[in-house]
Amino acid sequence: MARLLAAVSGRAAPAQTGTMSLERCQSEWTEIEQEYQQLQETHKVYRQKLEELTNLQAICSSAITKQRKALKDLKHGLHKCTKTRSDKETEVINDLQVQIKERQNVFFDMEAYLPKKNGLYLNLVLGNVNVTLLSNQAKFAYKDEYEKFKLYMTIILMFGAVTCLFLFNYRVIDEIFNFLLVWYYCTLTIRESILMSNGSRIKGWWVSHHYVSTFLSGVMLTWPEGPMYQMFRSQFLAFSIYQSCVQFLQYYYQRGCLYRLRALGERNQLDLTVEGFQSWMWRGLTFLLPFLFFGHFWQLYNAVCLFKLSARDDCKEWQVKRAAEVVRHHYYCSKPQVFMLALTFLVLFLGNFLTTLKVVHQKLQKNKEKVKNN
Ligand code: COA
Repeated sequence: MARLLAAVSGRAAPAQTGTMSLERCQSEWTEIEQEYQQLQETHKVYRQKLEELTNLQAICSSAITKQRKALKDLKHGLHKCTKTRSDKETEVINDLQVQIKERQNVFFDMEAYLPKKNGLYLNLVLGNVNVTLLSNQAKFAYKDEYEKFKLYMTIILMFGAVTCLFLFNYRVIDEIFNFLLVWYYCTLTIRESILMSNGSRIKGWWVSHHYVSTFLSGVMLTWPEGPMYQMFRSQFLAFSIYQSCVQFLQYYYQRGCLYRLRALGERNQLDLTVEGFQSWMWRGLTFLLPFLFFGHFWQLYNAVCLFKLSARDDCKEWQVKRAAEVVRHHYYCSKPQVFMLALTFLVLFLGNFLTTLKVVHQKLQKNKEKVKNN
């Protein structure tokens, strides 16, 4: 009776739909199974290729090491030959030496695509993890992100410095600002080490510059509150604002270089010639350089002011006998901080100024060579 009622009232229909959907499920499962089999095949091929890739990487790395050693021995041999050489031989030796130097540059480019052991710093910070990015696209994206990170942090730090200088003169806000600086420079040193592992030609000083800046911000962070601190505070904050402005200009220059160089490498994004890039770079550099040099001399000025501060009488009293006086003097006598800061600013000035001069000189030399060759 129940069955009859169900048949009349159409309850059989859902049972029929259920059967149909089960069929559909089964056919879907078969389809998924087929795709899964294909995925398994593809993954197997991928694993094989990965193994091949790892083997090729090992072969290339050991071949480069072998070639380097052979070239080093050859260089030694050539050096010995130079003692007893004729004019014709000199020419051959010079030619070989140039070729050896070029070969070393080629090895540097090759190694940018091979996994390698991290240096001491990256090993300490990240552990022994491979940081080599294997494709040009990934390398470009990482560098682009590094430049963007610098830009965003520059904006934040500029707001921080403006707030401290014009809005709030509270020690705690200064400390937050200085802590942010320490963190920012630490992060830059890590990112730059990764960039260098990926074939970036950042000069050693620019990386060291960020270690020195981390130290400087750390000393600023621990400088005790007092008249000495207040005397230098405004000058330091104004310098920070100026440095952020220069960093803006630097960002547009460096990002412009990055995009144009990439276009030169790929040739399909922008129709850009090497000469076009050179003229753009020189225009950017001549605009940027006066601002950079002004910043360097501001660093020197900071160093001089701080040396003067550290030589003041109220910064000299260190032989304090009573505990209460020790506490009081801890606030007012900050000679080590002031002296260390002065020294650090001097190191920054020398490093930045001399390296910038060297970079410009090298670029001019390269330009001259190119003009000669054309
Ligand atoms: N910080 C980080 N990376 C830098 C750098 C810096 N200050 N200067 C150059 N580089 C990088 C470049 O991006 C490039 O990287 P890539 O190989 O991954 O493409 C590489 O180093 C080689 O650059 P190079 O051709 O030598 O110089 P450039 O034309 O890019 O820049 C300067 C030249 C002078 C504009 C630049 O070095 C600079 O701005 N220096 C001044 C920094 C300074 O003094 N700051 C304090 C201001 S108060």
